[in-house]
Amino acid sequence: MRLQNQKEKIIIIDFGSQVTKLIARRIRDFGVFSEILTIKELCKIKDFNGIKGIVLSGGPSTVTKKKYLKIPKEIFLKKIPVLGICYGLQLIAKLFGGSIKSTIGKREFGRAILYKKKKSLLTKNFFNFKNKSVWMSHQDVVTKLPKDFKIVASTKESKLTIIENTKLNIYGVQFHPEVTHTENGNKIFKNFLFSICKIKKQWRVDLESNRLISDIKKTVKNKKVICALSGGVDSSVVALLVNKAIKKNLICIMVDTGLMRKNEFKDSYNIFKKRYKLNVRLIDASKLYLKKLKNIYNPEKKRKIIGNLFIKIFEKESKKYKSIKYLAQGTLYPDIIESRSATGSQSSKIKSHHNVGGLPKKMNLKLIEPLREFFKDEVRVLGKSLGLKESIINKHPFPGPGLAIRIIGSITSQKIKILQEADHIYINELKKHRLYEKIWQAYAGLLPIKTVGVMGDSRTYEYTCLLRAVVSEDGMTADYFNFPKDFLDKISNKIVNGVPGINRVVYDITSKPPSTIELE
Ligand code: XMP
Repeated sequence: MRLQNQKEKIIIIDFGSQVTKLIARRIRDFGVFSEILTIKELCKIKDFNGIKGIVLSGGPSTVTKKKYLKIPKEIFLKKIPVLGICYGLQLIAKLFGGSIKSTIGKREFGRAILYKKKKSLLTKNFFNFKNKSVWMSHQDVVTKLPKDFKIVASTKESKLTIIENTKLNIYGVQFHPEVTHTENGNKIFKNFLFSICKIKKQWRVDLESNRLISDIKKTVKNKKVICALSGGVDSSVVALLVNKAIKKNLICIMVDTGLMRKNEFKDSYNIFKKRYKLNVRLIDASKLYLKKLKNIYNPEKKRKIIGNLFIKIFEKESKKYKSIKYLAQGTLYPDIIESRSATGSQSSKIKSHHNVGGLPKKMNLKLIEPLREFFKDEVRVLGKSLGLKESIINKHPFPGPGLAIRIIGSITSQKIKILQEADHIYINELKKHRLYEKIWQAYAGLLPIKTVGVMGDSRTYEYTCLLRAVVSEDGMTADYFNFPKDFLDKISNKIVNGVPGINRVVYDITSKPPSTIELE
């Protein structure tokens, strides 16, 4: 599936690496549009005009076995420059007559030192000394140079770490220039893009909104669009885009599950109604959610109940309007990439993420997904160009099931209230201390255990509040945030003193993996 007809672009072929997304990010950061395709999608392309370069990603396949992921050789005969990364390099070597060996005893995982052997367009300004620290993750090595290729750089374990065929414009690197652990990795992309592919910088996210608005206009015409608005950055940007395109023909539905942060729902409603003048319908379903979640302890069950109820409410509501033909959703590019498989295998499901993805089949509505070609940080830039309030643009991600997956065990209105108060204090203090922007996601959670405390002269027996704060690039992996001790002291004090029902505060110091960001 091709996303759009950008004039000039770089295609990335995904062979299933965990970090393929990062290649697209790095290239887009240079102002160049890049798109990730599977081999199948690549084979469907008839017109290669505008494709200025192709990057082959890494992946778990091995060319040393009989069955492996292949790429048609014709791709290399189109005079489009190619850069193979890790598995991509091995595939190039295999196709052009080199040899590849699986070297179990000499695997390279992590840092390796790269030694320069010759000058190359690909490595201009990459080596500031003769060697360089790069990040490797491979077991197979290229052992025989393919015909007409030259060695640009080697490590101790793999002589053919960077190779090139300047006549055919084919380059291969065994390490991963897309990860930050590779020093100067960006220089490899910069050289490939501008010195080898000679592509121009044409991609500016902030200039994309006009195109998106006119696309929506052309698609929707005079029909009505419905949109589930949560007040998070993605659905807010979608609502503003569609509103700019079709004005009152957009109906935004805000379902109050009662599981939002303190004041969040009311504030969002007022902003969209008063400031942006959107056509917003508010549905208070908090009592219904509470009833359905009573005595539900299992996290997956909670998620299912919340998701299904959301669909039902949304469906019932949408039936009230005639001539609704479209459903606008905030699907992002990573959702698209992650929901298809480059290798044909399915990665195991950790948790059922709740969004409105289940809606269209049931409701026969056509989807409008204006953000499907953007990464989260690009959506924030789009939001800014549409005049979205900073406080919404910079909001931390918030899960669809809301506080229900931050209260371990059964949900009661009392627990929701306690958690909302603690979370409110925590987030306000983060903002006051200018820590909020440094953190990818922070929240308070409520543990289902009561412990003994002493306040004044009395014994207390209350809940434990867990604080979480993580830094992350995209939520796939995360590390806990290192707070100054004074800040933790202050928060603990404020929460225990300010929130009846909590007498203990703990800080979660696990990363993801092995934990996840949310508690359930
Ligand atoms: P986990 O807990 O899986 O979270 O490490 C990764 C990111 O996803 C968010 N998250 C969700 N978002 N519906 C959502 O829209 C969900 O069901 C859901 N579960 C987790 C989480 O907040 C974090 O940003």
